[in-house]
Amino acid sequence: MSSTVDRLTDLFTTRVREIVPPLFGAAGEPVRPLISLAYGLADPALFPRAELIAAATQVLAYEAAESLNYAMSYPGLTDQIVARLQAEGVDAQPEQVLVGYGSGQILALLPEIFVEPGDIVIIEGPSFLGAVKRFVQSGARLITVPVDEHGMNVTVLADVLRRLAAEGRRPKFIYTIPTFHNPTGVTLSLDRRRQLVALAAEYGVPVVEDDAYIDLRFSGEPLPSLAALDQAGWVIRVGTYSKILAPGLRIGWVHARREIIDRLLMVKAEGTTGPFITRVVARYCADGRLERHITELRRHYAAKCHVMVSAVQRHFPAEAHFVRPEGGFFIWVTLPSGVSAQTLLTAARSRGAEFLPGSACFAEPGQGDNAIRLAFSFQSSERIEQGIAAIGAAFGDL
Ligand SMILES: Cc1ncc(COP(=O)(O)O)c(C=O)c1O
Repeated sequence: MSSTVDRLTDLFTTRVREIVPPLFGAAGEPVRPLISLAYGLADPALFPRAELIAAATQVLAYEAAESLNYAMSYPGLTDQIVARLQAEGVDAQPEQVLVGYGSGQILALLPEIFVEPGDIVIIEGPSFLGAVKRFVQSGARLITVPVDEHGMNVTVLADVLRRLAAEGRRPKFIYTIPTFHNPTGVTLSLDRRRQLVALAAEYGVPVVEDDAYIDLRFSGEPLPSLAALDQAGWVIRVGTYSKILAPGLRIGWVHARREIIDRLLMVKAEGTTGPFITRVVARYCADGRLERHITELRRHYAAKCHVMVSAVQRHFPAEAHFVRPEGGFFIWVTLPSGVSAQTLLTAARSRGAEFLPGSACFAEPGQGDNAIRLAFSFQSSERIEQGIAAIGAAFGDL
C-alpha cells in the first residue's frame, strides 16, 4: 500500500510535481546565517517607515469604508503610474494599466493569456528565472537569446525570428529586462532598443519589457524604455514598487494595449488588487515624495555598488571579469577559466559567504557554471566587504 504522500502526489499536475526548495524562510531572511550576496533583497535601512505609518494611518482614518471592504484598487495609484509613464515618454492611459500583487504576479499571468503547451517564448540567457519558470509551467518551449555587455543580442534575435517565420511559426512573446538586467546588471543600448522594437512590429511578436530596476540609475545617461520607443503597441511594460519603495507591499503593474489588459483581468482570479495597500502607496508617493525617495535610493545603492566593485577588484583574481553596472542591484562576474561556480560556492560557504551561481539564471541545465551573481542591495557596506573578501579567499582554496 503506497503512502498518503505518494497517493496525493499522483493527483498533482505534472507542472507542480517537482518541489523546488524555497529561497527564503518564513520571515524573508535567507535561511542560512551566512553573509548572503545571493538575493536581491531591498536594504531594510531604506524603508520609509515613519512615512508609511503616516500614510496607513491616514487611509484608516479617512478612507476605511472604501479601503477595508471588497472594493477596486485605488484609481489614484493608477493615475500616478500613468503620470510616471507619461513623464518617461510613453503615451499611457489609465485603462491600459493593471495593478497586481507585485510584477511577479503580472509575469505569471502573461503566459496564462498567451501560452498553450508547445508555444514558443523567447527569453534572454541568462535571465530572471522567477518569471521564466512560470512560462515553462504554462508549457512554453523556450528559445534563449544571449546577453552581452550591451544587453540582448538582437542580431541573434533577428535570425531566430527570421528562421521561425520561414517555418510559419510566431513566438508568443519576447521576455527582456533591458535596464540594469537581472542577473548581469547590463543595459540594452539605444541602437538595440530601436532594433528590438522594430523587430517586434515587423514579426508581430509582443515584447514583455520587465523594467523592475529602471529608476535605480546611478551613473550614465537614461535611455528611453522600449515602451517609450514603441509606436505600434507591441511592448508590454511591466513595473514594480518593490525596488523603489518596498517589496513587501507587493505592488506591481503592467501597461499594455487594452486588449491585453482585458484578458489579464479575465485570468486574475481575485480581480482587484489591495484597495487598502494601493491607497497607502498612493498617499505615500503623492506630492513628489516618491521621486525624492528614489533620489535617496540611487545615492545609497550607488555607494554600495562602489564598495562591492572595489572589493571585487581587490579580492578576486585578476582574470575574473565583470561589467560595472550603471544601476540596479547586481554585479555578474565571469570566473577565470577552469573555475566552477558550484565548486566556488561550496568553498565560499565554508568561509561564511554565498552568492548565486550563474547556473541558477539559465533555463537550460549545464549553462552558467562559469559565472556568479553578486547582489549589493541588501547587505551593509561592511558585510559586502567581508563577504567579497571571504569569496576572494575561497578562490585561493580551490
Ligand atoms: C527582473 C525582475 N522582475 C520582476 C521581479 C519581481 O518583483 P516583484 O516584487 O514586483 O514581484 C524581480 C524581483 O527580483 C526582478 O528581479
